[in-house]
Amino acid sequence: MLKAKLIHESPQLKLGESPIWRDGLLYYVDILNGKIYSYGENITQLHTDSIIPFIVPCDDGLIFATKDSIKHLILKSGKVETIFKMKFDEIVRFNDGKCDMNGVLFAGTMDMNEKDPLGSLYGFDNKESKVLDRITISNGTIWNYDKKIMYYIDSPTRKIRVFNYDNRNSAILDEMESIDVSVFPGVPDGMTIDSMGNLYVAFHGGSSVIVFDSNGKVIKKIYVSAKNVDSCVFGGDDLKTLYITTAMDENGDGGNLYKIKNEISGIPSEKYKFI
Ligand code: BGC
Ligand code: CA
Repeated sequence: MLKAKLIHESPQLKLGESPIWRDGLLYYVDILNGKIYSYGENITQLHTDSIIPFIVPCDDGLIFATKDSIKHLILKSGKVETIFKMKFDEIVRFNDGKCDMNGVLFAGTMDMNEKDPLGSLYGFDNKESKVLDRITISNGTIWNYDKKIMYYIDSPTRKIRVFNYDNRNSAILDEMESIDVSVFPGVPDGMTIDSMGNLYVAFHGGSSVIVFDSNGKVIKKIYVSAKNVDSCVFGGDDLKTLYITTAMDENGDGGNLYKIKNEISGIPSEKYKFI
């Protein structure tokens, strides 16, 4: 059985999420403790007074979300500025976010009670627009290597939605048949893709990352010794190391970072572009 290795250097996270690879370093967040970590020679921490649901890279630093805003952190100076401020219901917060190849940010929201479809998926370039509605827990957005398909997860539906994608205009087109993953334990959460178009899906509650080909056939299962596996990303100079984040479970176990070597390289974490 394939088994991901524990990375001991990282502190235990309450809700480890949003791993990204930027200029030779792995960054990730602890959503509920409102911290951004960078893993490499050492660990850095940025303290804020908010939750931090996701990060994406940009040229001079990181873009990160709070409950209801998108901010820009310049890594050299530590300066933070707000670039988008939203108005959500009290029980709605940002969740996962990723950029497409044009540097447009797609960030979704969730019902903090994880029950009702109160969330949406938004696209952010120089303005914001709602692109999907009636989402309960927005997760896992990723594009395939030719950027003509977008995959998307609303976790409780236990499906991977598949859309044709207009990569010139960063627009979601028609929806195709989704991939049903309800036979696997847990719910699908974060997701990444390799350069051959295989999907690496983290299963929250399922102690695994399951790899599917683009037809939805299981290629392999990677066991992770934590119940709540939340997200994964490819890193390393050759983009052949899969880094995996996890969250603490009800017994206080889990919340560590894992890695596993892959034969096929991944795709780089796309940067947000200011226009
Ligand atoms: C959310 C968690 C949620 C999990 C499982 C994550 O993306 O941040 O709050 O429990 O998905 O659906
Ligand atoms: Ca997630």
